[in-house]
Amino acid sequence: MSSTRTLIRGGLVVTAAEETHADVLVEDGRVAALAAHGSSAAQGWTADRTIDATGRYVLPGGVDAHTHMELPFGGTFASDTFETGTRAAAWGGTTTIVDFAVQSQGHSLLAGLDAWYAKADGKCAIDYAFHMIVSDVNERTLREMDRLVEAGVTSFKLFMAYPGVFYSDDGQILRAMQRASGNGGLIMMHAENGLAIDVLVEQALARGETDPRHHGEVRKVLLEAEATHRAIQLARVAGCPLYVVHVSAEEAVAELAAARDKDLPVFGETCPQYLFLSTDNLAEPDFEGAKYVCSTPLRPKEHQAALWRGLRTNDLQVVSTDHCPFCFRGQKELGRGDFSKIPNGLPGVEHRMDLLHQAVVDGHISRRRWVEIACASPARMFGLYPRKGTIAPGSDADIVLYDPRAEQVISAETHHMNVDYSAYEGKRITGRVETVLSRGELVIDGREYTGRAGHGTFVPRSTCHYL
Ligand code: URP
Ligand code: ZN
Ligand code: ZN
Repeated sequence: MSSTRTLIRGGLVVTAAEETHADVLVEDGRVAALAAHGSSAAQGWTADRTIDATGRYVLPGGVDAHTHMELPFGGTFASDTFETGTRAAAWGGTTTIVDFAVQSQGHSLLAGLDAWYAKADGKCAIDYAFHMIVSDVNERTLREMDRLVEAGVTSFKLFMAYPGVFYSDDGQILRAMQRASGNGGLIMMHAENGLAIDVLVEQALARGETDPRHHGEVRKVLLEAEATHRAIQLARVAGCPLYVVHVSAEEAVAELAAARDKDLPVFGETCPQYLFLSTDNLAEPDFEGAKYVCSTPLRPKEHQAALWRGLRTNDLQVVSTDHCPFCFRGQKELGRGDFSKIPNGLPGVEHRMDLLHQAVVDGHISRRRWVEIACASPARMFGLYPRKGTIAPGSDADIVLYDPRAEQVISAETHHMNVDYSAYEGKRITGRVETVLSRGELVIDGREYTGRAGHGTFVPRSTCHYL
């Protein structure tokens, strides 16, 4: 924790609630006070360090509530470690990640959680928390869910997809949901009908349809919508809240909207890849489409309008990255000749804040909504608010100075993620992160990395603040 007093002077402070021309005083790693520009002398503020934010936005650090550092998948591991992935996150203005610890089948939740504590400990440049992937629902698992909630791991991801790996059947899902309704946990759902998808995969491969684009064709919109509907009904029966991850299809948004119109505690997240990329990318020739294989899959462009609308109407509350990078060379290539063997996942942790700022520039969302879906709502959803996700007295001084007029071009040549391609290669962005503080310490200082592995600490979370 920093013991210095830092004054951030002259910027436009943007939170989900308001935009204020204010100076921000940081003390001992926390926001101490805000005051109108120029009034800090009258307030008697002194500072060891002054940062000039003239012409910059002063934002709460981004909260990326969906990352997979070092995730084991398809016989390989996501290529970012906690060290490389959190450093890249910091470069992109994200100061907290919530990563997914994994329960492997036949093992306990606590063993999975311990393994993730060990992977992250001493490695992170920014603060981190964990969700738990539950892939073996049994009596012990259910009891352990209570212990995890007490330990600040208050959300559990279940999979209706990936039979034989992470998959849970409806009975297991219902049991886990019932447990969450008793202990305050939030159930996160990967909503795709995995059993039906596996039939379609087998049939496609038998027809010789092996290219990456077939990944998108077999993982049908209807099978995302059906699973979303089923997850909502199971959550209603159990009396628990539900958060559907990586929503990509218009029909799935419609299921969420219908549930929310009934006042049900149902929430949804989408990701930049579904807002900016499409099946056109999956169809790129020479196996290049493999770079875009993730699940739920990229959809035809027409779905993007529904996702943007859902973000504006609050039928979708959060944009996370689902950062799960695999190098094209040696990892994505495992699926040459069989799309079902391409490791699922895209890199993105570094570019979420920028891509969403581009959405502000393009008129999809307002500036405050940008901060809401990228910082405040994920913090509220996952029990981190107001420590994270806002700039207010008492909040952690996780602060981003953002230059809204800078121009940049995204490229694997210049990004900091440990992956050999960019899903957004060549995309022009207006706006760029300039300086980042994590609990008052400079981790990016005028486009220079000044952070360190081990600065980031584990943050135990309370339960969902939307309930
Ligand atoms: O393709 C994806 N999304 N990979 C990561 C695992 C998951 O389902 O979130
Ligand atoms: Zn998933
Ligand atoms: Zn994921």
